[in-house]
Amino acid sequence: MRRMTKSRPQVFVTRAIAPEAIAKLRKQAIVEVWPHDTPPPYSELTRRARNVDALLTMVTDRIDAPLIAAAPKLRVISNLAVGLDNIDIAAATAAGIAVGHTPGVLTEATADLAFALLMAAARRIAEGDREVRAGKWQTWGPAVLLGRDVFGATLGIIGWGKIGRAMGRRSLGFNMRVLYTTRSAKDDQSIAGAKRVSMKQLLQQSDFVSIHVPLTAQTKHLIGAKELALMKPGAILINTARGAVIDQRALYRSLRAGHLGGAGLDVSDPEPMASADPLLKLPDLVITPHIGSATHTTRNKMADIATDNIIEVLEGRRPRFCANPEVMLRNPACG
Ligand code: DGY
Repeated sequence: MRRMTKSRPQVFVTRAIAPEAIAKLRKQAIVEVWPHDTPPPYSELTRRARNVDALLTMVTDRIDAPLIAAAPKLRVISNLAVGLDNIDIAAATAAGIAVGHTPGVLTEATADLAFALLMAAARRIAEGDREVRAGKWQTWGPAVLLGRDVFGATLGIIGWGKIGRAMGRRSLGFNMRVLYTTRSAKDDQSIAGAKRVSMKQLLQQSDFVSIHVPLTAQTKHLIGAKELALMKPGAILINTARGAVIDQRALYRSLRAGHLGGAGLDVSDPEPMASADPLLKLPDLVITPHIGSATHTTRNKMADIATDNIIEVLEGRRPRFCANPEVMLRNPACG
């Protein structure tokens, strides 16, 4: 019994997640869960990482090369997210650490939120809500809070992965014309009528542009002043991917100048957005606090997969949802 306790792997979970997932993990390992609602500070995370076999992390945790170098026993980092821009995957791979994530299960919830932001920005829902609550709504008026038609409009989708395509599927019920860009070599026929175009064509022709690419060195500030200027006057930009894909200063200038008709952001750079950020003064911005995957069912499924990714490594296998399958897993016997 004592021997078993001694050899049990240790896991640090950086925020409370579904209790069922934690219970499953506890059958295999000694598990510590960070008890606060805000992330562990970087120094604390580094300290915890030093002694554990596995980390279950959030998008708010920076897992960089120095932290990885300070964690000699670490065998797996399992991110409760599909995005992995918070983790230095090259450093993890070089150290023989598997990196897990949770693709697939959050596709529909994230596309729902992207479409909700599109609708909210087009029909000025947040502005209307604020006016009613503030007692500013005086009467029905023929020119009160006029928005933009969604039905029959053109939707440009940047990034034709799972979430981009799910966004495209939603638009079919609104009779929208769908344009998309993709890095893939092949065109995709899965959504009737959706047309692959160049980025320039997409920006010039779309009434709504929705971003669905991961944040990488190539996609940082993918949408800057030049791209915004190419967009149709009055067009609306939606981002549920990562804040840094957009140059936010350029977005501010475009909205302020009245070129763009609005924006719907679930993500920003940094997060949270500073309350003094000038973007927050603009009425035609709708913003939510990075809640794309935030439904009960989706977060439970994410927690389940993130836990399985750890258990699989502790049992000597590569995780099923592994971002660096080429990794030579760190041998626990040498840890
Ligand atoms: C993701 O999965 O990458 C989201 O941004 C976090 O839910």
